[in-house]
Amino acid sequence: MKILKLKEKTSLGAVLVIRKSKSQKLIAVNPICTHLRCIVDWEAEENIFLCPCHASEFTTEGKVQNEPATKLLSTYKTKIEKNTVMVTRT
Ligand code: FES
Repeated sequence: MKILKLKEKTSLGAVLVIRKSKSQKLIAVNPICTHLRCIVDWEAEENIFLCPCHASEFTTEGKVQNEPATKLLSTYKTKIEKNTVMVTRT
């Protein structure tokens, strides 16, 4: 997977989009950690979002895999239209 884009200001709030290279599937999340609001990093080798502040981990579905965060990352629907990535609320 690779990171396509991090946009910190959209009508949805911050959005981080990554792509699974084999399937071309796009994954979009709000990258603001639900613990104390640091921006999570994408860890491709581990297939997780990792918070650099206190090491919370989140799955690609936004579920908490390692605390201290206890709330999900928000996820968004994605699709590609005319070479543009469209991101909408789920
Ligand atoms: S701000 Fe992310 S784990 Fe604390």
